[in-house]
Formats: sequence, structure tokens, C-alpha cells
Amino acid sequence: MNDTRAMHPRTTGEAIESWNGEQLEVIHDPPSGAWIIIAVHSTAAGPARGGTRIFPYRSLDDAILDVLALSRAMTAKFRALHFPSGGGKAVVFGATDLSPDARKQLLIRYGSMIAALGGRFATGPDIGTSPEDMNTIAVHGAPYVFCRTPEHGGAGDSAPLTAIGVLTAVLDMSQRIFGSEALHGRTIALQGLGSVGLQLAQRLLDRGASLVVADLDPQRQQTLAHPDVCWVEPEQLLATTCDILVPCAVGGVLTKTTIPQLRCRGVVGAANNIFADPGAAPCLAARGISLAPDFLANAGGAVGITGIETLGWTAKQAEKEVASRIRRALAETYAYATKRGLDPQSAALELQM
Ligand code: NAI
Ligand code: PHE
Repeated sequence: MNDTRAMHPRTTGEAIESWNGEQLEVIHDPPSGAWIIIAVHSTAAGPARGGTRIFPYRSLDDAILDVLALSRAMTAKFRALHFPSGGGKAVVFGATDLSPDARKQLLIRYGSMIAALGGRFATGPDIGTSPEDMNTIAVHGAPYVFCRTPEHGGAGDSAPLTAIGVLTAVLDMSQRIFGSEALHGRTIALQGLGSVGLQLAQRLLDRGASLVVADLDPQRQQTLAHPDVCWVEPEQLLATTCDILVPCAVGGVLTKTTIPQLRCRGVVGAANNIFADPGAAPCLAARGISLAPDFLANAGGAVGITGIETLGWTAKQAEKEVASRIRRALAETYAYATKRGLDPQSAALELQM
């Protein structure tokens, strides 16, 4: 393949060619009409691990493109935190309108598909799936399922450990920009108040930060009523004046169009793949906006839970490991960026190659 096609794939086939992963399973499930796509990106450092996303994709192509990028990010996050695991991801297309029973039966069949991979891939929750869903997938997918509820022998939701990691990155950024980790008097904007966003919001409020928050789902407002939280419309969030912006919803929100609208000093990535394309990251740096790359800042859930469930870490140990590994990965990235004259995203990517 020539370089231009590798950097800017135009078709799904070209994207698969330039993906550089090991195995892509595209499975049709006739009883539900859904498609399950499992991407084993790398098993070089251990079994490929990554969440399962159930999302209302517009097309099978969109679902495949997403799983390729998400699986690559999983390999990068484990590598960046020096954790012995490979990276993968699974997405489900065409399952968001199923009845609860049809959805449950689909997840049970999906567990058999995971088991058929013989341990090359193990999953956990992501957008659209929960620890209860992991219990269901584990009916046939055990032991290759993380984050089951404690009654089912798992360590529970990954969101609290993810939020602890993202908080660490926010504190690190506050120190870099303002010379202090104190968050009193700081305004943090959160895009998305789902599992990770809510866990993070509570920790930021505990440290005295003020929050500006938006979520597409108006019901989410009921989960966080606090005098230091200001809710805005989702389309206003990115342009909100704040100290640090934390996208906690979907990927692809930072583009060459949205970056000029930002009114923040720093961005901490909680959502996976916040940049719509790699060319957008230098635009952020050119505006003088600091960045904690997403696959470093949000690695706490995957690393912490995998540490608990495969290495026997205690919950407290997982919290400490997550915080110290993320601080180290950020320091390594910024040092490399300075040395090579790169923006932090490009530096972080180059370090994981
Ligand atoms: P979630 O599905 O629980 O929450 C996402 C929230 O974002 C929902 O409340 C949704 O309504 C909202 N949302 C979607 N688009 C929006 C928009 N344009 N503006 C405002 N709100 C919007 O998902 P979860 O688990 O909290 O994950 C959030 C992000 O973090 C995802 O990108 C996920 O891949 C990433 N992530 C999650 C981890 C985890 O442990 N759950 C670990 C690492 C990354
Ligand atoms: N959603 C998690 C992530 O993107 C995936 C995950 C959670 C994987 C727990 C393994 C264990 O990082």
C-alpha cells in the first residue's frame, strides 16, 4: 500500500489493510439481525482485551471503522501503562432496538463467540454495556469476561477506576498549567455524564472544582444535582469557557472545526479516540492548549480491573497502580514530545509504535 492510502483510508477495506491488527471477526447473528465485530488488534504482550460497545451505528462500515480504531487504542493504552496485555475491542451493530429478551439472548450467543476464540480475546463494558451484561455474556464466555458483578465473581464496573485515572490526569494537568493540583476555583467542563462522567464529576466536586456539564440524555441531570454544577445544552459544551475540558462521551469530537471554538487551557481525554483524525492533534497544540492523550488518561479501568482479576491486585492496590502508572506515562510522553518537538498526541502514539 502507498503511504497516502495508509494515512487516509477511503474504504473499509483500505482501513482494514492499514489497521495492522491480527484478526477481525465479522459475525452476523440471524436471530436478532445484529452484527458482532470482534477486532483482535495485538496479542504480542498477552491476550487481547477490550470492551464491548453496543451503539446505534449508521452502517456496518461505521461499526467496522470504529472497532478498528478502538482496538488499536486498547493495545496502545496497555503498552503506555507498561501492563502485560494485548488490545482488542468488540462492537455490536443493529442491537440498540432489540427487546430486553432478544438482547439478552444475543449476548448469550456472543459469549459463545468469545469462547470460540479460545482466550485470544476477553471483554469488559463500554458504551451501551454494563457489568450485568458481562454476567450474561459470561454464561458461555467465561472466563474471558471482565467486570462481572461481585455476586458473579467479577470486580464490578470499570468506570470508578477509569475515573480515578482521569482525575489523576486532570491533577497532573492542573499542576502543569497552573503550578498547583488544587482544584478550588477551577472550572472543569464535562461532555457526557454516563458511567465515567458521573464517577469523575463526583471526585472533582469533592476536590472543590466547579463543573459545566452537558449530556444528550436530559434524564442524566437527575443523577447530579449540586450547587457547583451548571448544566448547558450539548451543542454549547465545547465552546464553554473553562480551565480544563474533559470529553467523556463519544470519540471524534475534536476536529479542525471544533478545536478553534475551544475556550479552555487544557484537554484531558476520557472518551476513547477524541480526535476525529490524527491531523487535528497538532491544531490543538498550535492553539497552546495542553493535552493529556485519551489512551493514557482513560486507561485506569482496563488496567485496574485486569490487574484485579488476573494478577490478584486488591482494590486499593489497583487505585495506586492506576494513578502511578498514568503519571509515569504522562511524564514519559511530555518528555518525549519536548525532545522530538511533537505535540503530546503524536508523541504518545510514536512511543507506542
Ligand atoms: P456511557 O454510555 O455510560 O456514557 C456516555 C454518556 O455520554 C451518555 O450519558 C450519553 O448520553 C452521553 N453523550 C453521548 N454523546 C454526547 C454528546 N455529543 N454530548 C453530550 N453527551 C453525550 O459510557 P461510558 O462508559 O461512561 O464511556 C464514556 C466514554 O469513555 C466512551 O468513549 C468510552 O469508550 C470511554 N471509556 C470508558 C471506560 C469505562 O471504564 N467505562 C474506560 C475507558 C474509556
Ligand atoms: N471500556 C474499557 C476501555 O475502553 C474496556 C475495558 C474495561 C477492558 C475493563 C477491560 C476491562 O478501556
